[in-house]
Amino acid sequence: MAHLSWTDDLYTGNKLIDGEHRGLIGLVNALFESMNSGQGNDRISQAMHELIAYTGNHFGREEAQMERVQYVASLAHKAEHIKLLRQLTDLGAMLDAGGKINIPAVSDFLSEWLREHILTMDMKLAAALQMQRSGEPAPQAH
Ligand SMILES: [Fe+2]
Repeated sequence: MAHLSWTDDLYTGNKLIDGEHRGLIGLVNALFESMNSGQGNDRISQAMHELIAYTGNHFGREEAQMERVQYVASLAHKAEHIKLLRQLTDLGAMLDAGGKINIPAVSDFLSEWLREHILTMDMKLAAALQMQRSGEPAPQAH
């Protein structure tokens, strides 16, 4: 099963966002490992809940940045966040109920979602944050 690894094309140039994306990839890989190593549902479920909590906090921080700069594409971006969180929460609930998940499908889905979301939505957000930063008035010389 494919391991999700950081590649330099994923850099958005925003230190906070990039750092959290690395954290996300780490947790996705921890989830893959728990699914692959034949550990029980409890361990997989724990890894899933860690991923859900981190993802929720990360999305919240991105969304706070969107509010701060009155980001024009925030609705579409937030809609992707909400949808993914709902899917992860559903998977977590299924694991908690003792259900089996389709491991290759879940790992392919998560890897593809993350790459796609970072390369499209988050790149645009980071560019907008950067523009806003460089558009700030320079400190006045006295
Ligand atoms: Fe995002």
